[in-house]
Amino acid sequence: MLAAVTLSAIAAPATISVRADKPGHAVSPLLWGIFFEDINLAADGGLYPELVRNRSFEGSDGLRYWNFSSAAGNGAEPSRSIDESRPLNAFNRRSLHVRAGGAGCVMENEGYWGMRFVAGEACTFRVAARAEDGFKGAFRVQLCDSSDAVIASGELSGFGADWKQHTLTLTPSKSDSHGKLKLLVPGEASVFLDMISLMPVKTWKGHGLREDLAETMNSLKPAFCRFPGGCWVEGEEMAGAYQWKQTIGDVASRTQLENLWDYNATQGLGYHEYLQLSEDLGAEPVFCINVGMAHRESVPLDRMGAWVQDALDAIEYANGPADSVWGALRTKNGHPAPFNLRIVEIGNENGGPDYAERWPLFVKAIKAKYPEITLIANHWQKDYPKEPMPEIVDEHCYDTPEGLMRRAIQYDGYDRKGPKVFVGEYAATKRAGLGNLRAAIGEAAYMTGLERNSDIVTMAAYAPLFTNVHHRAWNPDLINFDSAGWYGISSYHVQQLFSLNAGSVTLPVEVQSAELPQQDSRGRIGLGTWATQAEFKDLKVTAPDGKVLFDADFTHKGTAGWTFLGDGEWSVKDGVLRQTSEKQKLRALVGDPAWTDCTIELKARKLAGREGFQVLFDNESDEDRTGWNLGGWGNKYSALVLADSDERKDGSIETGRWYDVRVQLDGDQIRCWLDGKLVHDFRRPHLTTKAIYASATRDHDTGEIILKVVNTAAGPTETTIHLAGVAAISGQARSIVLTSEKPTDENSLAEPRKVAPRTDELTLPGPNFTRSFPGNSLTVLRIPIAK
Ligand code: AHR
Repeated sequence: MLAAVTLSAIAAPATISVRADKPGHAVSPLLWGIFFEDINLAADGGLYPELVRNRSFEGSDGLRYWNFSSAAGNGAEPSRSIDESRPLNAFNRRSLHVRAGGAGCVMENEGYWGMRFVAGEACTFRVAARAEDGFKGAFRVQLCDSSDAVIASGELSGFGADWKQHTLTLTPSKSDSHGKLKLLVPGEASVFLDMISLMPVKTWKGHGLREDLAETMNSLKPAFCRFPGGCWVEGEEMAGAYQWKQTIGDVASRTQLENLWDYNATQGLGYHEYLQLSEDLGAEPVFCINVGMAHRESVPLDRMGAWVQDALDAIEYANGPADSVWGALRTKNGHPAPFNLRIVEIGNENGGPDYAERWPLFVKAIKAKYPEITLIANHWQKDYPKEPMPEIVDEHCYDTPEGLMRRAIQYDGYDRKGPKVFVGEYAATKRAGLGNLRAAIGEAAYMTGLERNSDIVTMAAYAPLFTNVHHRAWNPDLINFDSAGWYGISSYHVQQLFSLNAGSVTLPVEVQSAELPQQDSRGRIGLGTWATQAEFKDLKVTAPDGKVLFDADFTHKGTAGWTFLGDGEWSVKDGVLRQTSEKQKLRALVGDPAWTDCTIELKARKLAGREGFQVLFDNESDEDRTGWNLGGWGNKYSALVLADSDERKDGSIETGRWYDVRVQLDGDQIRCWLDGKLVHDFRRPHLTTKAIYASATRDHDTGEIILKVVNTAAGPTETTIHLAGVAAISGQARSIVLTSEKPTDENSLAEPRKVAPRTDELTLPGPNFTRSFPGNSLTVLRIPIAK
């Protein structure tokens, strides 16, 4: 990327002509929305403000996230176990059994990397409890700050042989974002506890969501809100598929579900809450429902009835009258008025023959009962039957910043007679750091194309929306948070600038600007696995002149100099580097980020799991994952995965067999050998981007022309702007510029506004003027014109 920046530093002057006299189509009123997925602990540990992590001991949570110690501080281990003998209810089968013993026991929970307490702001503590052996004593419940000082406390008593709910209001005397909850259980107690919950009383609009995070979404003024996923809707197997009926009503009776993004989901943020959130945001709800397909299996066609019925019931829950079965439940759950759900997406990223067979089942049933509902299909394949043709198709787009720039023209020549397009997920995900300026500039260029074509692309949403910084299962993410606060990555500002400056009608724009050559990034090498155990040895990297750049020599050097990414289990034994976890996305990187041409040689062996192994190269930053994937996609393909291009061939890896692997990076040519056989002989394409991308609209409310200009060059680009059909500028214009010193600049919790827009008033000389747009910038010009 450094090379790309140097080459593009001196972009030739550009011209932008805006036809204010020839307004085009209306800007789609639903164009800029949000996509909320329960990914990266976005719901639990995020928007859903339960402070206790693992409140009900279900699934993989077991006893995790709780610490037990003796109240005497003598190191004695209080007895605790998961009990299934008398569940709290049919959906909440497991509870905690504590036999404190001795001086009693202290139970501690730190929530999601610390609980946030605000002085004077009350929290509600709840627990379901039952006791045995006639225990009649009391518990202390304490909120403690990060230095363990008690900042609120209360007492619970009145335990009996049957389950009973207990509630306390606790108001912290001090603010602290890394606090914890303590329960002091007396020695004679033998108690069963479930749904141990601590929630702030104050929530966004009183509807149970974390205030600052809900406000971050609100500030984007989203036109729609797609929920609850994403892959989360699908699950790996059908047992992990999202089923909305398990997520409504009393939180103690919701079915917890293992989230494929690596945690147990409480479903506290359920279907009803998503509908409520959309209503509170003033956003059109877009419910994405499972189509009877998970990542690894599909529901047999003769069992699809239940899934189709679920979709019908979901619509009735949202919209049905209070005397309908599901409408009555909505009323009981606190919302008598219909939610007015008008758009439903059938499946997420599903395709192939299974999708082609299941899509019509939903369309037929839903359209028969609810003809007014708009149905969105997943990416539509040309060989699908013509009927029923979707009204809207969801096309997802993840790419490099430069790839997105090139896609700015993608919809210019799109078939206007076919379905409309919902770009339900897009983002720069490669060479994007943790969400850097360059990524945001790529997205901004792409978005000019979406806006210009919003007669066909009627809806679009960045993805994903949230990450807890301690659980980044996907990167980048628009809004990053911890228990104390949040920041928006550079892309957040791009989203906001486009949404708040959408305008009413598009104006045709013609841009003349230089083509900038782009050079692929180079960098460190590495080894990787995905849901697979593997081992590696005899790794050597050699320069073209034969000089050894790196000799792994695990026997003598161990893993000195290696960077391990992801939660892998790496170990060295007998000169072999072994990775024994079956988690996804595990990588070990080594070498110099400036490495270019070289030959990588090693031996690799798969030990167990779903795929093969990966030999990585060009990994300048930790977020790059480019290289050779052997046995990828369920051990079906051999793929060269580069930042801007790839090549995929059939190929699988046998378990237990040592392979000789060789990769040669020779200028634009990449050659890969497996056991001496040439598998890939690939030429990197010579790619370019434009320096300037632009779109323009007219705002009917204010009369202004809104011009969005993206300069992708490293340095400033002098640009002449013609506003055809404009007699005069009628006042001060406003320029809002998003840029920063370096394309790799990022925001963070410590520096939340390092990359942030700046607004200035401007006096323009008239409808023809010249401006210099800074390198790597998005500029929104709001120009008042005489009517
Ligand atoms: O946005 C993150 C993931 O990307 C979504 O879950 C999925 O739909 C896509 O693959």
